[in-house]
Amino acid sequence: MYWIKRIPEIREVISEWTKDGATIGLVPTMGYFHEGHLALMEKARQENDYVVVSLFVNPIQFGPNEDFQRYPRDEERDRELAEKAGVDLVFNPTAEEMYGQGFQSYVEVTEISQGLCGASRPGHFRGVTTVITKLFNIVQPDRAYFGEKDAQQLRVIQRMVRDLNFPVEIKPVPTVREADGLAKSSRNTYLSPEERKAALVLSKSLFYAKEQVAAGEDSVQRLSASMKRMITGEPLVSLEYLEFRESATLRPVSTITGEVLIALAARVGKTRLIDNITVRPGRR
Ligand code: PAF
Repeated sequence: MYWIKRIPEIREVISEWTKDGATIGLVPTMGYFHEGHLALMEKARQENDYVVVSLFVNPIQFGPNEDFQRYPRDEERDRELAEKAGVDLVFNPTAEEMYGQGFQSYVEVTEISQGLCGASRPGHFRGVTTVITKLFNIVQPDRAYFGEKDAQQLRVIQRMVRDLNFPVEIKPVPTVREADGLAKSSRNTYLSPEERKAALVLSKSLFYAKEQVAAGEDSVQRLSASMKRMITGEPLVSLEYLEFRESATLRPVSTITGEVLIALAARVGKTRLIDNITVRPGRR
């Protein structure tokens, strides 16, 4: 497995691989791999001749008071896991390599980046779309793999790819959960045992809503009220948002008539977690 830090070097390897028409799958990550990342790598492995994983904690997608400095990092462990997952190349640039002196070009997706996480993380999605644009230009993948856990990120990137005609197929991969339902996230490592237990209320409330919708409930007001009651009943959890959005466009809905994304963000202690579920109208 290649471990490459420089852009000219990765370009050389990729052009050698693709000169006879081989396909490339890209898995963009910030490292500290868990089963969610491994699921992305596995899917990429199944669908492409070569798998490239980028491992880069992207400074420009973190706000000034966010966790950029303390974001978990463990390159040795990541190297072993990537190797085991059959990855062909890890691209692990420095911030200097990606945003050298004088950097001043950004990519911004306007409407769909607003609200939800965009409301409390100004500039976050601009940082994500800029780094993804750079990675697409550097790696030139045929396919790129993103987790459904980052529901808004996925839609922002899908919109960008359509709007700007990137020749890349975006492949969503379902959220991987712990046995008790907690969505896998690198940030789960910040949780104390008590917080880890309290965090379960998030996935529980989403599963509850899914069951209610399957049983015929279609009122967003009623569902939202019940979910908020469950979540606010947990003293260690403070809800940032709970939103019901049309799945494809992220426009707000008041009734469950089509495919709806129920998305939430909350602080568990000091740790900000996000989760979501997709529901469709059930029996009436
Ligand atoms: O989801 C992430 O880990 C990051 O936002 C991404 C897509 C790798 C961009 O830095």
